[in-house]
Amino acid sequence: MMDRNLALELVRVTEAAALGCARLMGRGDKMGADEAATDAMRRTLNDINFTGRVVIGEGEMDEAPMLYIGEIVGTGKGDLRVDIAVDPLEGTNLCATGQPNAIATIAVANEGCFLHAPDMYMDKIAVGPRAKGVIDLAAPPRENVLKVAKALGMDPDEMTVVILNRKRHENLINEVRATGARIKLITDGDVAPAVAAGLEDSGVQMMIGIGGGPEGVLAAAALKCLGGDFQGRLHFTEEGEEERCKKMGIEDPHHIFTIDELAAGDVMFAASGVTDGDLLDGVRFYHGGATTHSIVMRSKTRTVRYISADHSFDGGPKY
Ligand code: FBP
Repeated sequence: MMDRNLALELVRVTEAAALGCARLMGRGDKMGADEAATDAMRRTLNDINFTGRVVIGEGEMDEAPMLYIGEIVGTGKGDLRVDIAVDPLEGTNLCATGQPNAIATIAVANEGCFLHAPDMYMDKIAVGPRAKGVIDLAAPPRENVLKVAKALGMDPDEMTVVILNRKRHENLINEVRATGARIKLITDGDVAPAVAAGLEDSGVQMMIGIGGGPEGVLAAAALKCLGGDFQGRLHFTEEGEEERCKKMGIEDPHHIFTIDELAAGDVMFAASGVTDGDLLDGVRFYHGGATTHSIVMRSKTRTVRYISADHSFDGGPKY
């Protein structure tokens, strides 16, 4: 069973990752920023007394040196064995260009509870608690937007729908525009706005469109903690992807995954802002230290904590 204190340990992990990469904001080096976040995240994960298996990570073992899929992290002390989904720097381009919504994030569940989403695209819809049960990925986007607006008691022109600004979304954007909804087109980073849709006062009510599959699992874990809703269906763009899915144990590659299929049982989620965004403020440096802003939550109790932390660099920065 996951002890509640684990949630607070997770904040240290995302804080470290955010601090690690924030120094590289705007320097045009997305790989370097990702590496710094990953290194700091892995070091802090390895201080936790548990056995954690990375199921959503930085890539396959042969392509990622750290936090690769299957890597075991933690001290190995104690009986706690968990599965981990990480994105040490979600929105590498956003950090590299100093744009909003880059976050460091992690989710933890009991063994076998996360969908092992392959590194492929996923069609997704994310909404908050008051729109739970009204979304349907099989229905046209227009229908989804109108149903969500109704469930929220809002007119479409009062709500904000977040969509990745991509060529592949031309029709989607037109369809959503036709409902009258306000749209926020983003360049990268669909996790922060998806999670923000779960928070009443974030100004974001819905995230829709095709983005990364692993990012879908992280957003689903967060929305589960918030009582929101999420659906995802893998979207294939390259030959052989369907076969690869089947080999990974996904029997029906066209299945629409519910939030509980993506993140089952008791889950925990933590994120820290790297740059300011819909969900969190980013890292702020000052003389001798920095402030981080994080959110940490647990599906079992639905407690949502916002944690601001001042990190002193006395003796040199730790990350
Ligand atoms: P990074 O892996 O560079 O951090 O990018 C993340 C992301 O922007 C996700 O938030 C999003 O789901 C996905 O990439 C979109 O993919 P693409 O840029 O190929 O449309």
